[in-house]
Amino acid sequence: MNNEKRVWWKEAVVYQIYPRSFADSNGDGIGDLNGITTHLDYLKNLGIDVIWVSPVYASPNHDNGYDISDYRAIMKEFGTMEDFDRMLEGIHARGMKLVMDLVANHSSDEHAWFVESRKGKDNPYRDYYIWQDGKNGGPPNNWGSCFSGSAWEKDEASGQYYLHLFTKEQPDLNWANPKVREGVFDMMRWWCDKGVDGWRMDVISMIGKENFEDGPVAPGALYGSFEPSCQHTETTHRYLREMRREVLDKYNLLTVGEAGGTVEGAIRYANEDGSELDMIFSFEHNDGLNDGTELGKWSDHGAPLKDVRAAFNRWQTGLQGRAWNTVYLGNHDQPRQVSRYGNDSELFRAVSAKMLATMIHMMRGTPYVYQGEELGMTNAYFTRLDQYEDVEVHNAWHQWVESGLVDGQDMMRWFARIARDNARTPMQWNAEKHAGFTTGTPWLPVTGNYPIINAEREVNDPDSVYHYYRKLIELRHQYPVIVYGEFVPMLEEDPEVYAYARVLDDVRLTVLLNWTERTVSCPLAEELSGHELISNYPTHQAGKLQPYEARVILSKG
Ligand code: GLC
Ligand code: CA
Repeated sequence: MNNEKRVWWKEAVVYQIYPRSFADSNGDGIGDLNGITTHLDYLKNLGIDVIWVSPVYASPNHDNGYDISDYRAIMKEFGTMEDFDRMLEGIHARGMKLVMDLVANHSSDEHAWFVESRKGKDNPYRDYYIWQDGKNGGPPNNWGSCFSGSAWEKDEASGQYYLHLFTKEQPDLNWANPKVREGVFDMMRWWCDKGVDGWRMDVISMIGKENFEDGPVAPGALYGSFEPSCQHTETTHRYLREMRREVLDKYNLLTVGEAGGTVEGAIRYANEDGSELDMIFSFEHNDGLNDGTELGKWSDHGAPLKDVRAAFNRWQTGLQGRAWNTVYLGNHDQPRQVSRYGNDSELFRAVSAKMLATMIHMMRGTPYVYQGEELGMTNAYFTRLDQYEDVEVHNAWHQWVESGLVDGQDMMRWFARIARDNARTPMQWNAEKHAGFTTGTPWLPVTGNYPIINAEREVNDPDSVYHYYRKLIELRHQYPVIVYGEFVPMLEEDPEVYAYARVLDDVRLTVLLNWTERTVSCPLAEELSGHELISNYPTHQAGKLQPYEARVILSKG
C-alpha cells in the first residue's frame, strides 16, 4: 500500500445534502440553497471536506430533481443562480468543496431536447432519445422499469415507444448519438468552469445500451430485466473514458459513480490508473441483501452481520491497491442506517449509531455521510400511504397491492422498513416546531422524535452521536493509516463481532464492533495493547464487548 497514489479525494469525508429536506429559508416548506448556505458552519465544524448536493437543477420533480428539464438552471423552489453562486462561494471560503449530481442517463420529459424529440420521427432531436417501433401490438421488448411497469411508453402521435428505465417522465438519453455525449460534456465543463469540484454520477452504469433483446424474467415477475443489455456494458466503459478525456482530465475533480455491480467491475470503473472514475458506490451491503424475489426490496429481509460483513470484506480486500472505494451505509435511496443496520430503540439508538459510524469511518475508502446520519436520525415509520411522497412507493402500491397480488398491510410494513422517504424527512435542527426545518408546512412530515434527536441538542452534548462523528472525521485527518492502511479482515466467522485491522508500515489499527444488543465475549479485546483512539463506551469489560460496543486501538511495531 506504501507507494499508492496520495490524492485529496482519498483523504476527504463527503457529506450528502438532499436539498429538499435540508433547510427551508423562506417558509414554503421546501428546503433551498439559501437554507444550505445558512448551515455551512455546521458542516465545517463537523469536519466535512466535500459537500455532494443532490440535484438542484430545474425539474418538474416527478423524481425529486432526478428528472432535469434544464441542466443549466436552478430549480425555482431551490432559489436562483445567484443563490447558487453565493452557496458555492461560502463553501469555498470555508475550505470545503462542492460535488454536483450528474443525472444524464435520462432527462425530464420536459427538457427542450425531449420536447423536440417527441414532435416526430423527422425531428433533428429524435435521435437524442431511444425510440423504437412496438412488437405484436405491445412494447419493443419485455423490460420493466426500476419504478414498476414497462420501461417503454407509447407516443400516440408517432405510434413509436420511447425507453425510460425509471418513470415515464424520465426518458433515457441516447448516448450512442455523439451529439448527446457532446451536449452532456459541454454542460459538465460549464459547471466546472463555474468552480464546482466534482460529480456524483447517477446510474452511470446504465448509459451504454448494447442491444434491445428481451431480458430474463424472475419467477413471478411481471417484466423482464434490462440488465444484460444496459448494465455495466463495454459501451459504458468506452463513454466514461471519453468523458475522462473530454472533461474530467481538464479539472481537479472528485468523481464517484453510482454503479454497484461486482468487485471486478469496480476495478474497471475506479482503477488506480485513473482511466475512468475515481470511485463508485457498491450496493452489495444494501440492495444486494434483498432476497432476489420478484418483489425486490419489498420484503422483511434484515441486514444480518454475516451478509453485511461478507459484502464489505469482499469490496475492502478486492479493491485495495487496484481501485479506490467508497464507504457508506445511508443515502437518499436507502432507509436510515441506524434503523436498518443498528437498533433505533431508545436504549440503543445512540450507541449503535456510533458503532456503525466506527465501522464505516475506520474502513478504506472515502466515507459518505448522509444528512442527519451524524445525529442518528431514524426511519419515519409512516403509518398511512398518503404520508409518502415517493413515486417508487406509489408505483409499487399500484403494481402489487391495487392489483391484488400483495396484501396492503405487508406492503405498508415493508415501506416503513425500507422506503426511500424514511431518509427524506426534514433535517432535525432543533426542538422547535417542524424541527426548525421550516416556518411553514414541510413537504414531507418531520419524524416525531425530533424533540430528542436534533442538531442543537447534539452540538451542545459532548457525548452525542454528532460529536462522535466529529471525532471520527478528525481521526481520519490525523492518521494516514485510516486512509491508506491495508485492510485486514479478522474473526471472519464470529457470529456477533465484526473485526478488522488496518496496517500501514509499523502502525496497526484494530477495530472491534459488537453487532448485538448483548454483552458478548471477545478474547481479542483482552489481548490487545495499545492506545485507544475512540470508543462509544467510557469503560470496558475484560475480554468482553458491551451491547453495540466499538473499540479502535492503535499499536506500533
Ligand atoms: C438514482 C438516484 C435515485 C433516482 C434514480 C433515477 O438511483 O439515486 O434517487 O430515483 O437514480 O434518477
Ligand atoms: Ca424554501
